Amino acid sequence: MNSGIGDKFQKETKYSRFSLGKGGLDWRNQPDLYKKYPNSKKIKLDSQKNLLKDSLDNVLKNRRSIRNFSEKPVTKDQLSILLWASTGIQREEHGYAFRTAPSAGALYPIETYIVVNKVKNVPNGIYHYLIKDHTLEELKTGDFGDDITHAALEQKMCKYASIVFIWTSVFNRSKWKYGERAYRYIYLDAGHIAENLALASTSLGLGSCQIAALYDDEVNELIGVDGTKESVIYMSVVGNLEKNSKE
Ligand SMILES: Cc1cc2nc3c(=O)[nH]c(=O)nc-3n(C[C@H](O)[C@H](O)[C@H](O)COP(=O)(O)O)c2cc1C
Repeated sequence: MNSGIGDKFQKETKYSRFSLGKGGLDWRNQPDLYKKYPNSKKIKLDSQKNLLKDSLDNVLKNRRSIRNFSEKPVTKDQLSILLWASTGIQREEHGYAFRTAPSAGALYPIETYIVVNKVKNVPNGIYHYLIKDHTLEELKTGDFGDDITHAALEQKMCKYASIVFIWTSVFNRSKWKYGERAYRYIYLDAGHIAENLALASTSLGLGSCQIAALYDDEVNELIGVDGTKESVIYMSVVGNLEKNSKE
């Protein structure tokens, strides 16, 4: 098999005893850990975090990819829990906020956007999750179920799910420390967040499915990111289960 860009990347981003740089970090130019939309309309989410009652044992036994959903909307409290569980702030130590999912160097390169198709008391639209304040920032209102479906290779679950989670990476947050090796960590970080979301969804009796089959630039355009400094890398859908739903 020919060696392609992936093989080259894997090879050229290896650590070895001889390749690790000795230079310190440029603390004055550390990228901001939180993206904000200062002029956006805000929707404050409830800070209650005790809705995940199911045992980890049950959740691990029951999680599976769900691609068909009922008409029933997800509630605002459930949305709040899903956002917190996937990537919310979980503790502060020495003035530094740590989150529910681990992150290489605690640099947290992943941003969360959601397409709301059907959530009680939240208008349909596209929002950014302002992690620091556990708040939604409204980017645009309206129905975007068809647009996100087209951008995800026509995967209809994006229209019928209550919520589509879109995770982007702000690459410099990690590249500032890890250079090109950051890409390895960024994808791992996104995986942790997605699994947290999947487990939290199962615990709430909801279904979820990860999505990586997507037209990157179409998703980027929909949420208004440039695709270079910041780009979509992963998505998930969440919704209520159909009766007798297994898939
Ligand atoms: C990185 C990744 C990307 C995926 N992308 C898609 C996708 O685009 N569409 C889809 O229907 N399922 C997608 N899935 C779900 C997998 O198909 C699913 O996890 C797998 O078949 C195992 O089934 P289970 O999740 O029910 O255990 C993805 C899963 C992962 C981890």
